[in-house]
Amino acid sequence: MTLRLAILASGRGSNLQAILDAIAAGTLDAQVVGVFSDQPAAQALHRVPAPLRWARRVKDFANREAFDAALADAIAAVTPDWIVCAGYMRILGAAFVERFPARILNIHPSLLPKYKGLHTHQRAIDAGDDEHGASVHLVNAELDGGAVLAQSRVPVLPGDDAESLAARVLQVEHPLYVEVLRMLASGRLVEQDGLPLLDGHPAYTPLRLEFAHS
Ligand code: GRF
Repeated sequence: MTLRLAILASGRGSNLQAILDAIAAGTLDAQVVGVFSDQPAAQALHRVPAPLRWARRVKDFANREAFDAALADAIAAVTPDWIVCAGYMRILGAAFVERFPARILNIHPSLLPKYKGLHTHQRAIDAGDDEHGASVHLVNAELDGGAVLAQSRVPVLPGDDAESLAARVLQVEHPLYVEVLRMLASGRLVEQDGLPLLDGHPAYTPLRLEFAHS
């Protein structure tokens, strides 16, 4: 089944690019049906043709709920199978999440449940962790709180700062997100009642996937 993907992005869009590259290479049976942003200047928008772009500023709406409602209407109009947050830097409100139950994915740069929220790389360094990584999870109303589908780890190396560690994590984010989407497209991974089922069995612990990094 060709997955219809609506991508939400606020910035650079390197995860979006990894998804587009996998589709172009024929290794992911999916179609990006729209890129949606709260930042009209986001680089991510320029990675797809103009008709696929939607961008609005929150401040142009009466309130955050009105922005979310407009965003949700625009996404619903392209009938996605999955809403894929890829560097979307706003919290999706409860009404948005409830409108697309268990149909929203996010990639978060930590080994959830560790380090929900921001500054994950610095927090891992400050804690003296010797490993860090990225998680792909279902989005529910709790920040970075939905079921984790898959994770990939990288070492924290002596001398790392937040920037060098973020760069290492990003190297595994790209193949991790693509691999999860591939499993969704092939039907190996399905969501049921907010829990992932992998090959028909409940996946109570995240899949651990390994990818090359420097
Ligand atoms: C990634 O590190 C992602 O995990 C985080 O924001 C960053 C987005 O990078 N949520 P990009 O826009 O995909 O390049």
